[in-house]
Amino acid sequence: MKKNVIGIDLGTTGVKVVVVNEEGHVIASCTEEYSLITPKPGWAQQEPEDWWQATIKALKKLVKDISPSSVCGIGLTGQMHGSVFLDENNSVLYPAILWCDQRTANECEHINEIVGKEKIFQITCNPVLTGFQAPKILWLKNNYPEIFKKVKKVLLPKDYIRFRLTGEFATDVSDASGTSLFDVRKRNWSEEILDALQIPLKWLPDCFESCEPVAKTSKESENLTGIPSGTPVVAGAGDQAAGAIGNGITKEKLVSISLGTSGVVFAFSDSVFVDPHGRLHTFCHAVPGKWHLMGVMLSAGGSFRWFRDNLGKEEIEEAKRQNKDPYEILVSLAEKSQPGCDGVIFLPYLAGERCPYPDPNAKGVFFGISLKTTKADMVRAVLEGVSFGLRDSVEIMKQIGLPFGGHCRVSGGGGRSKFWTQMLADIIGEKMVRLVSEEGPAYGAALLAGSGVRLFPDIEKTCDMFIEIKDEFTPDLEKHKFYNRYYRIYQNLYTSLKPSFDLLSKMF
Ligand code: XUL
Repeated sequence: MKKNVIGIDLGTTGVKVVVVNEEGHVIASCTEEYSLITPKPGWAQQEPEDWWQATIKALKKLVKDISPSSVCGIGLTGQMHGSVFLDENNSVLYPAILWCDQRTANECEHINEIVGKEKIFQITCNPVLTGFQAPKILWLKNNYPEIFKKVKKVLLPKDYIRFRLTGEFATDVSDASGTSLFDVRKRNWSEEILDALQIPLKWLPDCFESCEPVAKTSKESENLTGIPSGTPVVAGAGDQAAGAIGNGITKEKLVSISLGTSGVVFAFSDSVFVDPHGRLHTFCHAVPGKWHLMGVMLSAGGSFRWFRDNLGKEEIEEAKRQNKDPYEILVSLAEKSQPGCDGVIFLPYLAGERCPYPDPNAKGVFFGISLKTTKADMVRAVLEGVSFGLRDSVEIMKQIGLPFGGHCRVSGGGGRSKFWTQMLADIIGEKMVRLVSEEGPAYGAALLAGSGVRLFPDIEKTCDMFIEIKDEFTPDLEKHKFYNRYYRIYQNLYTSLKPSFDLLSKMF
């Protein structure tokens, strides 16, 4: 019988499950959504039970289309940095606090004081940031001591799904890199940091390289999902590393840009390569023994979604009438404006920012509005602002001497738009290419599973075999020159507004 592998991507808006066959083709795919809870500004949480119910639903739907016994491996990926707190019965103690949650500014300062800013940077290769896992653990301790007393395990989001599928606890090096508790050079938990923060090592799952099979599906999950018990589950990877595998970023010089809720510039690195100013993240890659650098914007596609939901009601209605996606209608509107949007510049810091400014107080801004400004200018400014934000990370990578291969592989929802992909080429000044497979992290997770269970060769060869370029977008040099001037103003705006962001955040 022909074999298949499954990739499960536990995203922020929903879970996506894909089935990949022996030829590396996606033969079935299903997405189930769940909601994001924001009880206070800057907070973002979800119920792990909602993730699990959505995963069961998606798996059940998918196994109807394939022979369940053809599944020879499962790979997990998902939103990084979140915290799931479990008690001694493995019950969830508090909603999962997500990657984009900004409630932990005090705890970050506290960690810097106890462990030392430099020590943290030296061990984890990154500054401690509000979205990362360690400050969330301290936040629970400071704010809900009674709940904290009951904690027996702390898991990353995808690892909670592994627990429900297999009954086992495990994580992988790429996801563990985003906890501020991990020695990124040694690819293992840092006992030094854990001791300093009084977090028991046994609260954390054992850590593996991404392709390693670490557990098998249980009888209990077979009854719920239809996937036969005993199916191997590999360690998997955080969504960015898995997405990079799906984009074939397995060699030096290769760079990808993903335009999902967050916006990420991701570059492969053969050795540990660190931005001395900590503006980019250095994490372990899902390729065994390799690393990567990445710049993460918190609201990339998220800014566009905010625009659609709050200022795009007419376009949503129009889309219904034309049976189209509202984003398509909004992009057509953006095309009516000109580069530079008649002087309007958008700062995409709707959820604070991470790279290059680790600043929970940063806010979104429309700058330069005049009586002449149209909605077309404003929607285009959102797309340009996000593209400038991505350029920030590319510029830093070039400044610190990371080898750059002459093109970026674009993926994610935003990459479906030719207009936005061309805009990225024009603003960043590099060729953008799109790939045949658009399934992103879920596809990468399936490839990791296939490689781990030896359906496919090692992950580098697997990517060489299966990943193909679909089309290319070359920068328009005139537009690039023009955008360079705008980019300087975009950069100055954050610096000028920083004191006002801080003042404003004290008022809420
Ligand atoms: C990566 C990051 C986001 C989340 C959600 O560091 O925070 O990519 O993983 O996608």
